[in-house]
Amino acid sequence: MSNEFKRSAALSRISPSATIAITQKARDLRAAGRSDILSLSIGEPDFNTPEHVCEAARGAMAAGQTKYPPVSGVPALKEAIAAKFSRENGLRYSLSEVVVGSGAKQVIANAMLATLNPGDEVLIPTPYWVSYPQLTQLCGATPVFVETHAKDGFLLQPEALERAITPRTRWLFLNSPSNPSGAVIDAASLAAIGDVLLRHPHVWVLSDDIYEHLTYGDTPYVTLAQVRPELRERVLTVNGVSKAYAMTGWRIGYAGGPAPLIKAIELVQSQLTGGACSIAQWAAAAALSGPQEFVAMCRESFRARCDRVVDALERVPGMTCAKPDGAFYVFPSCASFIGRKAPSGNVIHSDEDFVRELLDHTGVAVVHGSAFGSAGHFRVSYAASTDVLADACKRIHLFCEAVR
Ligand SMILES: Cc1ncc(COP(=O)(O)O)c(C=O)c1O
Repeated sequence: MSNEFKRSAALSRISPSATIAITQKARDLRAAGRSDILSLSIGEPDFNTPEHVCEAARGAMAAGQTKYPPVSGVPALKEAIAAKFSRENGLRYSLSEVVVGSGAKQVIANAMLATLNPGDEVLIPTPYWVSYPQLTQLCGATPVFVETHAKDGFLLQPEALERAITPRTRWLFLNSPSNPSGAVIDAASLAAIGDVLLRHPHVWVLSDDIYEHLTYGDTPYVTLAQVRPELRERVLTVNGVSKAYAMTGWRIGYAGGPAPLIKAIELVQSQLTGGACSIAQWAAAAALSGPQEFVAMCRESFRARCDRVVDALERVPGMTCAKPDGAFYVFPSCASFIGRKAPSGNVIHSDEDFVRELLDHTGVAVVHGSAFGSAGHFRVSYAASTDVLADACKRIHLFCEAVR
């Protein structure tokens, strides 16, 4: 018998995240002596976790909250989540309709593992967060991409959604504000999407609201189950503390949804990991229930950075960069540089070539749009200092001017 490593069928259906790969390449280049690397490829706030949240974690340890927690979450956190949904989203969930996981990512993965079968289809609007199609494929189901376009502000069009639905459709992913486009779905657009879904009762919706607090427009944030309460029994509203409270490393995400689905998610989680880190859960409870000034401060800081980056990139000849309404990404078009020659002399055949040449020539790491299902664009994370952003935008400008 050979002792050769063999991948499972499930593993062979998934691939590593392009965002992690580029961030790692930037780290490797830095380690190899390139001191000029500026990484705008990572999706995490550059703030420290608020002090009162860290204090709650220390308090939890001191109080002996260090044993296996309940699989679906400690009651204090679940109560804080139910109160958050009620206060901020007008959604009433009982504790049996709330589940806590190790990050929103685990909650989403559990939901897919709990519900998908081979042959099922999952509707994923493009551009998408890289994990949606990968998790779908891990479960043996088929991602079906529904294109959105820059001219529509990257908003899902109800007609396109209607056309994509088949008897095999199981889920639709919604993500507002969007990673990577920053697009925010307004109430009227969400209602129109809801109307399509009302005609197709077999389609469930996973509303990924992880960037909820990072919106820059004048209208209040809304989520699907709030706008179309008739859909409540088939909407999973996913959120977490990673982006809103600068807690990416604490790994706490959560969801509200119908009790049978929440129970199914809990069953998957009980066999995979059990309850999320008890100490992090107490910290997350403090984040959700405590003072919220931090969230507003982050929003204002990101809003100012967004304005500056859009302004700088809009000045680059040949580049178009729409101003997004949320998250901490911009998603400019690099289509006009494709087919032309980079300063290295290499022809830029694709957005992937564009970002590779940009990194090699200028040291600025960004992520190509095709990694998110939208070729001809690239994603810039502006969760970096204003000095780094100004320097990076200048380098991008000089690089684009040097493309012939
Ligand atoms: C759209 C989206 N959903 C979910 C997540 C995962 O968040 P968490 O840190 O809670 O797992 C991310 C993280 O980058 C994201 O961009």
